Amino acid sequence: MQFTKLLAAGVLLTACLSASAQRPNTTNYDESKVGNLPLPDPLTCADGTKVTDAKTWQTKRRAEVLRLFETHVYGRSPGKPANLVFEVTKTEPKALGGQATRKEIAIYLTGKKDGPRLDLLLFVPNGVKGPVPAFLGCNFNGNHAVHADPGITLNPRWMRNSPDKKSVVDNRATEASRGSEASRWQVEMIIAKGYALATYYYGDVEPDQAEGWKSGLRAALAKDGANTQFAPDAWGAIGAWAWGLSRGLDYLETDKAIDAKRVAVIGHSRLGKTSLWAGASDERFALVISNNSGEGGASISRRDFGETIAVLNKNFPHWFCGNYKQYSDHPENLPVDMHELVALAAPRPIYIASAEEDKWADPKGEFLAGKFAEPVYALFGKKGTGVAEWPPVNQPVGDFIGYHVRTGKHDVTAYDWEHYLRFADRHFRK
Ligand code: GCU
Repeated sequence: MQFTKLLAAGVLLTACLSASAQRPNTTNYDESKVGNLPLPDPLTCADGTKVTDAKTWQTKRRAEVLRLFETHVYGRSPGKPANLVFEVTKTEPKALGGQATRKEIAIYLTGKKDGPRLDLLLFVPNGVKGPVPAFLGCNFNGNHAVHADPGITLNPRWMRNSPDKKSVVDNRATEASRGSEASRWQVEMIIAKGYALATYYYGDVEPDQAEGWKSGLRAALAKDGANTQFAPDAWGAIGAWAWGLSRGLDYLETDKAIDAKRVAVIGHSRLGKTSLWAGASDERFALVISNNSGEGGASISRRDFGETIAVLNKNFPHWFCGNYKQYSDHPENLPVDMHELVALAAPRPIYIASAEEDKWADPKGEFLAGKFAEPVYALFGKKGTGVAEWPPVNQPVGDFIGYHVRTGKHDVTAYDWEHYLRFADRHFRK
């Protein structure tokens, strides 16, 4: 049976994580020292029963795994607010030299115009028979950084000051930051392929700093506001940013130009952790993309290579839930590992991308999370990465679990987008 074969391949690969003694305090980049901690089995239920069919995964085991990620990693998020309000604030039918229609949509997250608000930027290709499939992801520097188009509203909210001392000054974006993130979005390429692109600045939902939640959505939704003492399983910032992506999808479901059943959620780095969690917690996302998401994203936490849970918790205490802190020096106690986060996307297609020089993110660990998710895809008769070993650079692989490690640094490049678009074409345009 295919499932047994795949599981055996997974066990073999696990056994290859060669032995090491104590976890060192310094960053490990030596493959022979990643350790040999056994991985939790996605197919064993809490009551010990084995999952051998798709139905049992969907009706029983999937909910257990999702709950474990909520309780121990990202925290629990509230559902869709009843009083969400959308307001199209700007429309330009001839954007990008006439290639696209650009829209801006204010999403009032508590229904009140003076409450927290997320601004969605949407490019829809012109002259294409719709409704069209779309990519949706958070951006780091404001919608105006995604493309140099001067018609995009400059984000007015808090941002980290830029090293160039020009793009972001006194924690506010300046005109100099227009298009500063453009190479990561490849808007023209996406539009030319007939896809829409929707994005929002993650700081609209919560400024990315330890105390950022006090002026963000998490405080706005809490009874005690900025005085809230969060429960150990309450959502962290990643949970809040992912929640914002679901609200973006809520809007896309109302826009006739978009086919909301073909929306891919995408993110890079911390926002790749966010897209993985959004895809896991909201099954309306039809395809999931993780770009260099690293520790706390696609990388297997039990492999001691590059960033660790301890470092994440120390440097970014606001990203995960309180319970995640107890795993700082004990990844072996975490009741899940990240192959199970990938598995939560099943049977939907997922693409994991690494970069050769992005050792901090543990590229091989990112691949293995995809590889070890295969038994769950196999339940649905879906093929995963299609390879037994970590592939060489610039050789994309995979059927329902796409993967590549490209040459170069921690970034999103035209190469990455080329392969995301191919993958989306393969699954969205059958
Ligand atoms: C830091 C962090 C990573 C994260 C990255 C990013 O390097 O340690 O976990 O992915 O920032 O978001 O750029």
